[in-house]
Amino acid sequence: MFGAIAGRYDLLNSVLSLCTHKWWRRVALCQCGLCPGMTALDVGAGTADMAIGMAARVGPAGRVIGVDFCEPMLRVGAGKLDARGLSGGVQLVSGDAQALPLAGDSVDAAITAFVLRNVTDVQRTFCEMARVTRPGGMVVSLELSRPSSGLLRRFYYLYFYRVLPRIGGLLSRKDAYTYLPNSLTDFHSVDELSEMMRRAGLRDVRALPLMGGIAAVHVGTK
Ligand SMILES: C[S@@+](CC[C@H](N)C(=O)[O-])C[C@H]1O[C@@H](n2cnc3c(N)ncnc32)[C@H](O)[C@@H]1O
Repeated sequence: MFGAIAGRYDLLNSVLSLCTHKWWRRVALCQCGLCPGMTALDVGAGTADMAIGMAARVGPAGRVIGVDFCEPMLRVGAGKLDARGLSGGVQLVSGDAQALPLAGDSVDAAITAFVLRNVTDVQRTFCEMARVTRPGGMVVSLELSRPSSGLLRRFYYLYFYRVLPRIGGLLSRKDAYTYLPNSLTDFHSVDELSEMMRRAGLRDVRALPLMGGIAAVHVGTK
């Protein structure tokens, strides 16, 4: 499915979120504690937006690895890295988020954005992110969530379940943009995700709701 929408994925992200995803990404990236020279991991890197943000933070002396199993998404990401002159510092690797092709304690921070709704086993993905992160490093997730206020939820669901699939159908593939809201319906709550991070061995876990809970950033320390 992601292979089929890869070419227009970035455009749809900006249209459907009215560009707010860029702000959400910045909030998540700020939680990674990245400094020049560090090594960072983007799990389910897709078209590499988070990897590009991490590359800016770790600088030319640092290293970023992006893992995703969808080659067409990675190809779009590779084109963006080339255009920005970042191909040297960012390595895009084909692999499964639930069995990361990295050694233990090998990165300073691991992030994942809009991926957990799509994996079969969220707990295992957190465990893998924790495994490859060095002690003291940060594990961060950015994911869509359900607004806490009843009124906001009503308006948001009207948009998310009714309007969004139509716009997605006009600009890209309707099945993928019907899947998008459906993937949130039975997805874990903010508290459940926090608990899973703790079970993965992370400490000081906290959740930051964004825009009334439309999205949430989760942060934990290895
Ligand atoms: C909604 S996109 C998010 C892409 C990117 N992280 C972003 O912020 O835009 C979800 C991505 O997760 C990838 N993905 C889903 N399950 C995966 C898994 N088990 N292993 C690796 N990548 C996975 C998909 O291929 C897709 O590129």
